[in-house]
Amino acid sequence: MDNRDPNLALMSVVTNFSNGEVCGALVVTASKTVGDLAGYWHDASALATLDPATPLYTTASWLPEGEGKEGALAWGNTRLQAGRVGREYFMTRGHFHRKREKGELVVCVSGEGALVLMSEERETRVELLRPGSTHHVPGHTAHRTANTGQVPLVFLCAWAADCGHDYDEVRERGFSRLLVEVDGAPQLVTPDEKRTSQKIS
Ligand SMILES: [Fe+2]
Repeated sequence: MDNRDPNLALMSVVTNFSNGEVCGALVVTASKTVGDLAGYWHDASALATLDPATPLYTTASWLPEGEGKEGALAWGNTRLQAGRVGREYFMTRGHFHRKREKGELVVCVSGEGALVLMSEERETRVELLRPGSTHHVPGHTAHRTANTGQVPLVFLCAWAADCGHDYDEVRERGFSRLLVEVDGAPQLVTPDEKRTSQKIS
């Protein structure tokens, strides 16, 4: 006889804080390859030297009330591989939220990287991601992450499930500044000049 109290529900989703994995039957996973971001990388000739099937990042998302319901929340992780296309670090696509006022929280679990933030006025800045570092992406801000280290960058995110994702501007215009490797260190440079404009570390 099963005498468990039905009010004590078993965990349906588990977040593993040692490796950043978010697991459970309701968790939806997705993955991107380097080739999936063709058009986003700045150096097309460097991209041509890479296998487009090279794994880039995986995501795991839990939307307990589904996507689009006002007031609902979402939770998930991203595992971004280490590497570069030319000098540009492996990165996520980046997006604005369709509901521009909606923000997001990011917590780095492991690895080294950067959270690249761009305002609607196309001002770009960077916050360094290190294990335990915790970040707020304000509304009206495009955001992507880049792996500047030698091992996968793993981070957790919490966002409004109804925020929507607007990839259009980033796909068409990119970010106003690129995060690239210069003399072994990440630097933000303007896309056209590729010159050092701000040292990151
Ligand atoms: Fe977002």
